[in-house]
Amino acid sequence: MKILLVAGARPNFMKIAPLVRQLKGRRGCEYKIIHTGQHYDEEMSQVFFDELEIPAPDYHLNAGSGSHAEQTAKIMTAFERVCADERPEVVVVVGDVNSTLACSITAKKMGIAVAHVEAGLRSGDWSMPEEINRVVTDSISDYLFVTEKSGRDNLIKEGKRPESIFFVGHVMVDNLLHMKRRLDGEETAQSEVAALKVRLGVGRYAFLTLHRPANVDDPETFAGIVSALNEIARDLPILFPVHPRTRNQLGRNGLRFSESVFLLPPLGFRDALYLWKDAALVLTDSGGLQEETTALGIPCFTIRENTERPVTIEEGTNTLVGVRPEGILAAFSDFRAGRVKKGRVPELWDGCAAARILDVLTP
Ligand code: UD1
Repeated sequence: MKILLVAGARPNFMKIAPLVRQLKGRRGCEYKIIHTGQHYDEEMSQVFFDELEIPAPDYHLNAGSGSHAEQTAKIMTAFERVCADERPEVVVVVGDVNSTLACSITAKKMGIAVAHVEAGLRSGDWSMPEEINRVVTDSISDYLFVTEKSGRDNLIKEGKRPESIFFVGHVMVDNLLHMKRRLDGEETAQSEVAALKVRLGVGRYAFLTLHRPANVDDPETFAGIVSALNEIARDLPILFPVHPRTRNQLGRNGLRFSESVFLLPPLGFRDALYLWKDAALVLTDSGGLQEETTALGIPCFTIRENTERPVTIEEGTNTLVGVRPEGILAAFSDFRAGRVKKGRVPELWDGCAAARILDVLTP
């Protein structure tokens, strides 16, 4: 049995790490790691391979940045050659980035089974490239591994066969729990990051990530979000590792954060976790962090109008605050008044998702 594991962008790396750990212990199962090169900077890619102990990729497709069509096409062309050489039984794709879409289509057209990890999530927001990637990937996948029950419901509504859907929990939570255990044993981080945390004090800062095109590429929306964050930072300092897209847009639009918003370079998994696990509040437009905060019970404001991860709202610590400054600030006033969601950990977010997936793929 030969499996190709595809990863290309930052949020993919933490999802393949637990699958690799499981695959290492399974007999009769060969696997190869394919890095598409969608993300390529050291701090967007290599640092995750090092920290999460993912073996060096067997193939690097060097796709790089570009328009959606350019990037997708480069990945497809290069991945087709890999599939032709390797002839795997299954291609495993994770998440919803362009690499997920490109490799699932390529494999399916070559008669190779496709397994989609994190299937069935739907925002209903077609302005998100990720929504298109999710819907297309799910529509051709043979194995649909879902993280929450809404995923199953969405797939059934779209006419997928129940036998192809497997509710397994979340590989990203597997990775989070694994890394948290390791971090708790050591409690060290990059010195600059550690010093900042000590200076501000545990529970006395917020942690921010912001990179969605809908939030940072539209100057008016971005300016409104920045003004709300500056206001919040007057009360609660904010630590902000800045994504390359956001850094470019800050410069282009001449926007400024106040000195209580600490701008950091993109962080590796360890340093980011070291900061956000002890934050009073996480503010984010990322998909993954909405879920990770729910898994650890940290309050989270999602700076978006919708989420494809409803379990984080219904059961977890997540609150959708929208992208307008009034909404963000009203939610923060509530938070400061002590109206904080406690939340509970969703079903099967227990660190065993990768094992369940491999039990299905390699019984
Ligand atoms: C991609 C994913 C998004 C995910 C995000 C996490 C798609 C459609 N989007 O968005 O779902 O949440 O990754 O980071 O797949 N850049 C660098 N260095 C890098 C990579 C990118 O500087 O290593 C810059 C480039 O200028 C590039 C821009 O960031 O044009 C955006 O990168 P891209 O991969 O196109 O999209 P993301 O915004 O990162």
